[in-house]
Amino acid sequence: MIHKIVNKKGKEKIVMLTCYDYLTAKILSETNIDLILVGDSLGTVIKGEKTTLSVTVEEVIYHTRIVRKGAPDAIIVADMPFLSYGTSVEESVKNAGRLMKEGGANAVKLEGGKELAHFVGAMTNVGIPVMGHIGLKPQSINLYGYKIAGKTEDEIKSLIEDAKALENAGVFSIVIEGTTEEAAKIITENVKIPTIGIGAGKYTDGQVLVITDMLGMDKDVNYKHNKRYTNLYDIIKNAVGSYTDEVKKGLFPSEDNIFHK
Ligand code: KIV
Repeated sequence: MIHKIVNKKGKEKIVMLTCYDYLTAKILSETNIDLILVGDSLGTVIKGEKTTLSVTVEEVIYHTRIVRKGAPDAIIVADMPFLSYGTSVEESVKNAGRLMKEGGANAVKLEGGKELAHFVGAMTNVGIPVMGHIGLKPQSINLYGYKIAGKTEDEIKSLIEDAKALENAGVFSIVIEGTTEEAAKIITENVKIPTIGIGAGKYTDGQVLVITDMLGMDKDVNYKHNKRYTNLYDIIKNAVGSYTDEVKKGLFPSEDNIFHK
């Protein structure tokens, strides 16, 4: 299954979107996207928190399970929450395994580079497909802030080292978030596995967006890396407005919506 993604490198662009619920997953399952990510972005766009740090393994399992119901045949990657990995190998493998066994994910994603190679190796050794995530790492906000990476030659060198260390440890793909296009291009050229970019320019092997961002659900945010493909905020608000008007005016329910004996 995962090899299908790896084989796309250099042949066709890979498309990934985040998803957190059954009905959206059902829609995604009827599209041509390649991967669904149950991202820990659920901390911000579902739970309304300022960061992703509070997300728990239980929450990712819950959302992965309901996404799996809507998209039974999709390749689903589940995000490993902050501190659910990288503390001890045993804990990391156990939590990754839970996302697959209890959530129904096909693979897990974790944020970090060379420092995590050891943990990635332990996971892939027991059959857990792992996706890496380098560049801007939202789980490390308290250390680095939301800073675009890969602006200097030193930073680019370090990112390439991260990508290669992850590749050698066995990841099947790497998300590159929030880097200069130049950095993402060089990283992509230096690894044999596909890179999937968000805010990393056009040269990565694929792209990922947070679904609520690309659907325009939050009128208060519009990130430079994002494109709003529709404006669900206005669509939902207008629909609720029409419903409210019709109820107030006695126009809803109409004969079409009423049961008679
Ligand atoms: O949690 C998430 O949605 C992510 C994407 C931004 C790649 O990690």
